[in-house]
Amino acid sequence: MIVTTAELFDVAYGNFTVGAYNINNMEQALGLFEGHRQAHAPFIVQISRGARDYANPRMLEAIIRAAEEIYPDAIFAVHLDHGTEEVCYACIDSGFYSSVMIDASHEPFEENVATTRRVVERAHAAGISVEAELGMLGGVEEDIQVDEKHAMLTDPQEARAFVEQTGCDSLAVAIGTSHGAYKFSGRQGLHFDRLSAIQEQLPGFPLVMHGSSSVPQDEVRRINAAGGTLDPSARGVEADEFARAAPLGVTKVNIDTDGRLVWTRVHREYFRDHPEGFDFRKPGKIFIQAYADFIVDKSEKLLSAGRLETVREAVV
Ligand code: G3H
Ligand code: 13P
Ligand code: ZN
Repeated sequence: MIVTTAELFDVAYGNFTVGAYNINNMEQALGLFEGHRQAHAPFIVQISRGARDYANPRMLEAIIRAAEEIYPDAIFAVHLDHGTEEVCYACIDSGFYSSVMIDASHEPFEENVATTRRVVERAHAAGISVEAELGMLGGVEEDIQVDEKHAMLTDPQEARAFVEQTGCDSLAVAIGTSHGAYKFSGRQGLHFDRLSAIQEQLPGFPLVMHGSSSVPQDEVRRINAAGGTLDPSARGVEADEFARAAPLGVTKVNIDTDGRLVWTRVHREYFRDHPEGFDFRKPGKIFIQAYADFIVDKSEKLLSAGRLETVREAVV
């Protein structure tokens, strides 16, 4: 059942975080839905502009609608990840999305406000909610490269003014994470003090954590043992940090890189061990299972495991 993102947030706020996973193909969709079935967890399926270019928006919609039929007990929202104004309007008009993200965080504050405000007006008229972003994460965000040094943590006072002026429904905040496999070095981690200060300014308001992959070291090691050349010092968000972020207002946690690592590990190992192989369904099947296992484990850490019935009672 596709629900609104707002409905999920109402149940989750302060209690647990909802995993938002990017999908690009059928195998990811099957693993995603199967994992959440096993975990009894609600979730958000998110689609980036890159995914729309790769798979065609119609194909992605058909995959998700088919998964919904195959998994009739699933409760999830469909979300546009890192949208431009133009793509937000296309998604709002499509009638398929529960929510859109307008990402104008690279623009000056006033322009970010103006762009977000326009999207909010169009989205709310169609009954769709809007995630906006303030502050800058490090790493690569779609086609924009943000140098670590220029990644700016979200200012709590600005966050409050931004929400008041735009009417957005949730806010992606920069609290130390970055996109991709290389987030932290040494003893860096999330800035919980900053997150707490943002929550003080925006009590009860849903916050979103992008760049939330954990980049498991064992996954990186296995990829490299099978021919990969990922930086072995790559690190992500620690498993216990999600549980600390939930009471501080984080309701949505974006995860893409970790799923890509599972895909890469499975396929590299398969073809290393089966150099004669060319039936892609064999590693494909292994990936679906491995991705489902990953989702079960992640749902425990996000505290969303076992919440499905609570959400069902709230939305039906
Ligand atoms: O934040 C970006 C997500 O990881 C999506 O990545 O734009 O390459 O599909 P993508
Ligand atoms: P990761 O690169 O940490 O998986 O972050 C994904 C993300 O923020 C998608 O919007
Ligand atoms: Zn992101």
